Amino acid sequence: MSVFRTKSIEQSIADTDEPEYQLKKSLTALDLTVFGVGVVIGAGIFTLTGRVAHQMTGPAIVISFVVAAVCCALAAMCYAEFASTVPVSGSAYTFSYASLGEVFAWIIGWDLILEMFLGASVVAQGWSAYLGVLLGKLGVPLPAAISYGGVIDLPAVLLIIGLGVLITVGIKESMRVNLVLVAVKLFIVLFVILAGLMFINPANYTPFIPDAAPSAATAGFSWTQPLLQWLTGSAPTAFGWSGVFAGAALVFFAYIGFDVVATTAEEAKNPQKDLPVGIIASLTICTILYAAVATVVTGMVNYTEIDPKAALASAFVHHGQSWMATLISAGAVAGLTTVVLTLMIGATRIIFAMSRDNLLPIGIAKVHPRFRTPWKISIIVTAVCALTAGLTPIGVLEEMVNIGTLSAFILVSIAVVVLRRKRPDLPRAFKVPFSPVLPIVSALICFYLTLNLSIETWLRFLIWMAIGFAIYAAYGVRKARLATGQALPHDVQQAMSEGVVKRPSDGSK
Ligand code: ALA
Repeated sequence: MSVFRTKSIEQSIADTDEPEYQLKKSLTALDLTVFGVGVVIGAGIFTLTGRVAHQMTGPAIVISFVVAAVCCALAAMCYAEFASTVPVSGSAYTFSYASLGEVFAWIIGWDLILEMFLGASVVAQGWSAYLGVLLGKLGVPLPAAISYGGVIDLPAVLLIIGLGVLITVGIKESMRVNLVLVAVKLFIVLFVILAGLMFINPANYTPFIPDAAPSAATAGFSWTQPLLQWLTGSAPTAFGWSGVFAGAALVFFAYIGFDVVATTAEEAKNPQKDLPVGIIASLTICTILYAAVATVVTGMVNYTEIDPKAALASAFVHHGQSWMATLISAGAVAGLTTVVLTLMIGATRIIFAMSRDNLLPIGIAKVHPRFRTPWKISIIVTAVCALTAGLTPIGVLEEMVNIGTLSAFILVSIAVVVLRRKRPDLPRAFKVPFSPVLPIVSALICFYLTLNLSIETWLRFLIWMAIGFAIYAAYGVRKARLATGQALPHDVQQAMSEGVVKRPSDGSK
């Protein structure tokens, strides 16, 4: 019984390659790019940007965005190499099962669950913040206790339950809605950039990198200070260069989701070529848009006055452009929905992939007789997301999402090097240049960013990992299909072919 056993790539492909269960291979590079942009642009730019600029970086948030983009670009190349070598859904989890071994696949899967679960919850809260602004503008404000930042975030809970119903009854319909919402979102982001240009006051860019200042809770030690500051014995500060890097570790959140493109490998027409293009193109587009939005917003409002809740809309209110703020809020409400939806689907998919291998109980992958979706997983995901979004205080969740994702990136980067050694024979349409140097640099930068996250985030993450290991030790290590040779239940196999797995293409048909 070895925790390092690997599931061969051939076997992974075979699990999805039964002719009658094959997914339609219809997605082009353009489809994948649109899908990627739709997943990525969300609460990161609409809400987090304001908070980070206000509390940590000032106008230098633009540099934070670029640093985070470099980190993602390197990781993206590693993802792209994997996706073009192992065109099977399940993303980093499947990749690492093939290269690093089961226990690492488990760790990645567990990290990805964290990413998707919490990601969906955080973005639902961002959605709720904008809904609050929108309803306020329309003259029907919600009571504070049941809105964003209140005792319970009721709108976020209702959104998640609504989307949970959608993904349970079948995601074909939901993906059609998805496409329209992506278009709305892009329009709003471009609108913010172009309309915002008129209101820029260049004086707001000075100082570009505000001097480091003691952070709010400063008395020598603070749970919220970046781990790196604590390790190096420096006093907790905000702003300055350390603020820029801490900011990068936070706005990294805005890029989360491009890796989801890799999970559509099974449906790409020509995965070897189109996946790398889809991943890297969506990342490039988002980086340009983010840098532009960040520049515009910090130019419109002095960073000391930026609204940390709904920064983009508030920047226009600041300039007396109330109707523009209403439009932006409405667009954000529409656009953020797609991110929550996709992350919830991602969460069900990763749990599905793990229970398909029986690392989680295979019974939860049971498929609904009529809807043909893994309804049990959908209900679990919906319930946990709703509780988290409804009851968790804001401001700590993004960091948890980031640390989970960065850990997955680190393992994927290492896995590229390992798989090259183990299986040099596999055809790779896309190769990370300068391997093993670039994958190693990628892993190091990701690790550096995790060190810039707060001490409390690290503690929470370690607790999350400990729970994960306990579950693996108690269940997966003995029950894994790879160990028992158990066959895949028929209904699970069929569901894989029918829409549980993914359908980003359906909306376009
Ligand atoms: N990148 C996604 C967002 O910003 C998770 O909302």
